[in-house]
Amino acid sequence: MTSPKLRAAIIGPGGIARGAHAPFYIKDSRTEIAAVVSRTHEKAAAFAEEFHIPAAYDCADTMLEAEKPDLVSICTPNKFHREMVLKSLEAGCHVLCEKPPAMTAEEAEEMEEAAERAGRHLVYAFHHRYNPETRVLKKAIESGDLGSIYHTSVQAMRRRGIPGWGVFTSKELQGGGPLIDVGVHMLDLALYLTGYPEPVEVMGATHKRIGNRPGTGLMGQWDPENYNVEDLASGMVRFQNGMSMVIETSFAANQQDEETLNVRLLGDRGGADTSPLRLYEERYGALFDSAPAFLEKTDSGSSYERQITHFIDCCLDKSRPLATPADGTTVQRIVNAIYESSAKSSAVSLI
Ligand SMILES: NC(=O)c1ccc[n+]([C@@H]2O[C@H](COP(=O)([O-])OP(=O)(O)OC[C@H]3O[C@@H](n4cnc5c(N)ncnc54)[C@H](O)[C@@H]3O)[C@@H](O)[C@H]2O)c1
Repeated sequence: MTSPKLRAAIIGPGGIARGAHAPFYIKDSRTEIAAVVSRTHEKAAAFAEEFHIPAAYDCADTMLEAEKPDLVSICTPNKFHREMVLKSLEAGCHVLCEKPPAMTAEEAEEMEEAAERAGRHLVYAFHHRYNPETRVLKKAIESGDLGSIYHTSVQAMRRRGIPGWGVFTSKELQGGGPLIDVGVHMLDLALYLTGYPEPVEVMGATHKRIGNRPGTGLMGQWDPENYNVEDLASGMVRFQNGMSMVIETSFAANQQDEETLNVRLLGDRGGADTSPLRLYEERYGALFDSAPAFLEKTDSGSSYERQITHFIDCCLDKSRPLATPADGTTVQRIVNAIYESSAKSSAVSLI
């Protein structure tokens, strides 16, 4: 006899719900999408029709009460993550929440506590963790190939890649610019690979030099009138275990490469870059470069799919989440400390 399907719901049916959530719940035979919620019934109904979802709502409370889903994907702008996560956990659902976890570290802590109280999974959508490169590199690190990692460099830089659509340039809805949007992905990856050490001090600087002027680039023409986030953020973090980290992230750097998404790890026995995956290892008294000959091709589509498959495995108790609520709180504390340090022009202590 086949088990009944898990009932999924989507709150916030926009770009990421369409590309990274709905198709993969539909594809997986263990789930069905029972309902979708948007700000208006009209928007929810349009998405429901597109993905053949039986119910559309304009209120999350009503949906949770009526549909009693087993799991929920939260895909709203960042401003609403906290509220929707808390409601869904209280209703007894497992939750996959888009990144970043929230707008502030306090919100992320509240969400972490709520997940603990509810005894449900709260997974943040840091999909780069599901890349084959990440899996291989994590094994190399755990087997000691890099020795002790004492420095990491985190880059999420775009050349004139300010989104010309959506919510990404709105501080009110997103809480910030490239740091909270793309920087968080690489920051999480660096922390995941290095075992999530405890951050103790953060120094940050942000700049808005390009987004506030008219321009066009990789992601179309942006609107300088509604550009109120940073276009570059940099930070330095010191960790309790002695590791240091430098972060650089931008929507619109005047650089040669269209996009640089990389974590560089420096250990006392070896080093690594994540993209493309390269290992630099001491052997026979010399430093060697190595690269995997064959790895499953990585594109964001496939890591999104692996993320949903793994989340479903966790909901069915067949696996443990890779990205925990506590990890999300740590990411959020660092992000917010970079913004705070920039605003007050001094270092921020996290202990
Ligand atoms: N993982 C990734 O690589 C990735 C990529 C893009 C966006 N994101 C994240 O996904 C989230 C959404 O981004 P997007 O690009 O899909 O935005 P979007 O604007 O395309 O979609 C957001 C949707 O949420 C709906 N919405 C807004 N407020 C709501 C509310 N209170 N209740 C219910 N629905 C509401 C909007 O109507 C819209 O349909 C953000 O947190 C963003 O950071 C993640």
